[in-house]
Amino acid sequence: MKDIIKDCKDTKITISEMVLPNHTNNLDTLFGGKLMYWMDMAAAICAHKNTKKISVTASVDNITFKSPIFKGDIVTITAYITRVFNTSMEIFIEATSQNSKSQKSVICNSAFFTFVTLNNDRKPVKSIEVKPKTKEEKKLYDGALRRRQLRLILAGKMKPEEANELKSIFN
Ligand SMILES: CC(C)(COP(=O)(O)OP(=O)(O)OC[C@H]1O[C@@H](n2cnc3c(N)ncnc32)[C@H](O)[C@@H]1OP(=O)(O)O)[C@@H](O)C(=O)NCCC(=O)NCCS
Repeated sequence: MKDIIKDCKDTKITISEMVLPNHTNNLDTLFGGKLMYWMDMAAAICAHKNTKKISVTASVDNITFKSPIFKGDIVTITAYITRVFNTSMEIFIEATSQNSKSQKSVICNSAFFTFVTLNNDRKPVKSIEVKPKTKEEKKLYDGALRRRQLRLILAGKMKPEEANELKSIFN
């Protein structure tokens, strides 16, 4: 089957959630694991909608919790594919929280997720190609190779000496 080719921006999806009492910790702020679940869900929806196949989370890069999200806030998460390698793709996630009283929105988290598309026999398969168009998409596309090599080294799937994009760090 021929690959689908899409502009990065056309792979974008958005989900929103309201922070309810059962989503919070003892400080009445959003439990971090809940946000990670929503981020993973947004990435999964992005992967599924664009590849039209089952895709699974292979890895998640660093997630930092910059500011607390309060009960009643609206959390909006966007996800889009920055680059497809072969069977895997990098998905950029950004989470924004809108305060229920002030209506002010802040970016509270961002992260890169890697998803792998599987066929009906649960084997990795290539399914889509993406093209960056904007300056930001091109920047993320170019950096994706470096991030891929770093995460494969950390997962024990690549030798540091094979990571040509990271020579200055490892050699
Ligand atoms: C992700 C998974 C399918 C990879 O399978 P695998 O047998 O290691 O397959 P391969 O080594 O052929 O790798 C397939 C692709 O995954 C990528 N990959 C594998 N491990 C990775 C990791 N830790 N980080 C980023 N990419 C990874 C490879 O680079 C390759 O990408 P490419 O085809 O674009 O080059 C397999 O490890 C798996 O099923 N993991 C569980 C997924 C899951 O259940 N997720 C939900 C968590 S609860």
